[in-house]
Amino acid sequence: MFNKIVIASGPTLEPIDPVRFLSNRSSGKTGYHLAMEARVRDIGQITFITGPTVYLPIQVELIQVETAQEMRAAIGEHFRSSDVIIMAAAVSDYRSLKYYPEKMKKDSERITLELVKNPDILLELGLHKRKNQILVGFAAESEDIFVNAQKKLIAKNLDLLVLNEISEANPAFGCDENQVYLVRPEGVRKLEKMNKAHIAAVIWDDIVSMAGGS
Ligand code: CTP
Repeated sequence: MFNKIVIASGPTLEPIDPVRFLSNRSSGKTGYHLAMEARVRDIGQITFITGPTVYLPIQVELIQVETAQEMRAAIGEHFRSSDVIIMAAAVSDYRSLKYYPEKMKKDSERITLELVKNPDILLELGLHKRKNQILVGFAAESEDIFVNAQKKLIAKNLDLLVLNEISEANPAFGCDENQVYLVRPEGVRKLEKMNKAHIAAVIWDDIVSMAGGS
């Protein structure tokens, strides 16, 4: 059905010194389930580009990276030849401006770490997307969630945005279950709270129908 599917998953890890890093609570489960569901359906070759996680799918081309910049480079190599790109990775928005090659000593009571913004990979992909490519992004919003999601969909030129409403009732990160909305230019569909494997299946139903399948 598809020639090549690229799925980016997991957190990114941004080193500060040889033993410390910045990262986030992404488990990589959603990306893992998206890959496994595509495998089971046998709908195309999968290139799985992931930050550090234990959730590694089988029977895919596996590319393991650490930083946002490494992830960007790996995706860049596969973007042109892919017809579906899913950015399920929790890319660290910032990295340390400086990498300290020696382990930092705790000599001061206070230190300041200067952070610099990472490239927004999804935004770049949206800018270069061809008409026949399907681009899927994720968002985690806690206020004005639908307004922000629609803005993101347009700004990043996405075909589908999987929207997580972050709240105490739905922490999303690291959990087995999640409640999401599928946001398309045509409208929003609320999915009930369900496990991430099931969410992955519904996302693929949507992508396949977008591509003209049933
Ligand atoms: N993303 C990316 N590169 C980044 C940051 C995020 O490609 N440097 C992608 C993620 O993979 C995800 C989507 O963009 O698909 C998340 O978009 P983002 O605007 O970062 O959303 P939020 O995390 O919801 O954050 P915010 O609105 O606070 O910016």
